[in-house]
Amino acid sequence: MKILRVNQSRIDSIDFSNLPFGKVFTDHMLICSFENGQWGEPEIRPFGPIPMSPATHALHYGQAVFEGMKAYRKSDGKVGIFRPEANFNRLNRSAERMTIPQVPKEIFMDGLIELVRLDQKWVPEGEELSLYIRPFLYASSEFIAARPSESYVFCILLSPSGPYYSGSVKVKIEEKYVRSADGGVGFAKAAGNYGAAFYPTRLAQEAGYTQIIWTDHKNHSLIEESGTMNVAMVIDGVFRTPALSDRILAGITRDSILTILRDNKFPVKEGPITVDELLTAAREQRLSEMFGMGTAAVISPISHIGYRDELIEVPTPKDGISAFVKKTLSDIRRGRVEDPYSWMVDVI
Ligand code: COI
Repeated sequence: MKILRVNQSRIDSIDFSNLPFGKVFTDHMLICSFENGQWGEPEIRPFGPIPMSPATHALHYGQAVFEGMKAYRKSDGKVGIFRPEANFNRLNRSAERMTIPQVPKEIFMDGLIELVRLDQKWVPEGEELSLYIRPFLYASSEFIAARPSESYVFCILLSPSGPYYSGSVKVKIEEKYVRSADGGVGFAKAAGNYGAAFYPTRLAQEAGYTQIIWTDHKNHSLIEESGTMNVAMVIDGVFRTPALSDRILAGITRDSILTILRDNKFPVKEGPITVDELLTAAREQRLSEMFGMGTAAVISPISHIGYRDELIEVPTPKDGISAFVKKTLSDIRRGRVEDPYSWMVDVI
């Protein structure tokens, strides 16, 4: 791996006491090109623009996928990355669906670890802070025929970040627009899934909501996801989340939470949740908690559900299931308890 270091770090110009999400980038990035049927040598170089032709394929057809994961400053000062192999596997599943070549494991893992090690000073301290890691993969051929690109770029950016949402969110049950459909790309972290969600999300925000609860494409009767996150709720004391399908992203936070709850003998059910069932439980106060689960926000409590003209309040208990899993995950990530699943990959 080629490493080109900055002459002068920018770290002293950053206000770590006031970090937004995903706007500050570290000194270096990793970049690796796929050309003539093979991956080249990965390179770590100073963070900065990637010169590109206006004919760059991804700009026209959205043949692009990404990942999101985090590195944490542990209580002993060391740095660990949470479940990077799971992100590596998911990146390649997304890539396959988008006709993008598979990224070799050593390029992803060795590149990631080397990069985080090099910029380790940027991993912030503080319970709500982490180093958000954004690997992405895009079509870089310079032609505008609508067929798969022949060259690709794999890149990793690092962004010391604060919380994604502040406080609890008010969600709208979406009945017009859809995020995904059977046979589609909903399970993939394809760039276009997110771009296509901005318009309905903006409409919901203009109506006073923070996010959308996506429902199924056929008749909007099943609960599917919450904004950019998986969704979960506790109904009659049972933790419920929709089962994975080709319409739903296989969230790593979702999987980690299910694992923790099952190991703690908490009743868990993965399967269909109808809009009716959710609304009835909420109205009858049998819904004791509802939240989004994702890498960026970790857990995002839902305080209100909007359905047509109705606005239903949802409890956001300080000592409920979400608080328990959030604390358990944090304790593992910060090295305050043993990591029974070997989820953390230490880099220093
Ligand atoms: C997530 O945390 O679920 C994401 O996908 C993050 C993002 C779109 C910023």
